[in-house]
Amino acid sequence: MKNFIACLALAGMAQLAVAADAPASSPIINKVANCIGCHGIPGYKASFPEVYQVPMIGGQSAKYIESALQAYKKGERKHPTMRGIASSLSDQDIADVAAYYSQQK
Ligand code: HEC
Repeated sequence: MKNFIACLALAGMAQLAVAADAPASSPIINKVANCIGCHGIPGYKASFPEVYQVPMIGGQSAKYIESALQAYKKGERKHPTMRGIASSLSDQDIADVAAYYSQQK
């Protein structure tokens, strides 16, 4: 089971590495493309590491989203998928996606 999770995490990072090649001025949609697969689907549950309710982040305050992502990045929050994702985001990316999601309804 551990290996399976590591595999998924690696696959996710490879995908993110590709996304990171986009120009710095890439539109916000490229930065959030990775999030849409899990967040933003009503009632969606991630299937690893266990069945997990994926929280809705659209419409939450930018400050809240930003501090949550920073907490994953620093390891204060433990969810392995979100840690992998947050640690691949720069502080600017985090500020951008936080602003983007706070505009969502
Ligand atoms: C593979 C599925 C998946 C992807 C992709 C994903 N997330 Fe998450 N996210 C989750 C899950 C599951 C949680 C709940 C984890 C927990 O309880 O700590 C979560 C939690 C969060 C939280 C905290 C929400 C709260 O109310 O505490 C934020 C903010 C967040 N994600 C933002 C993002 C952003 C921004 C992206 C894209 C850059 C992203 N996520 C991509 C599954 C995902």
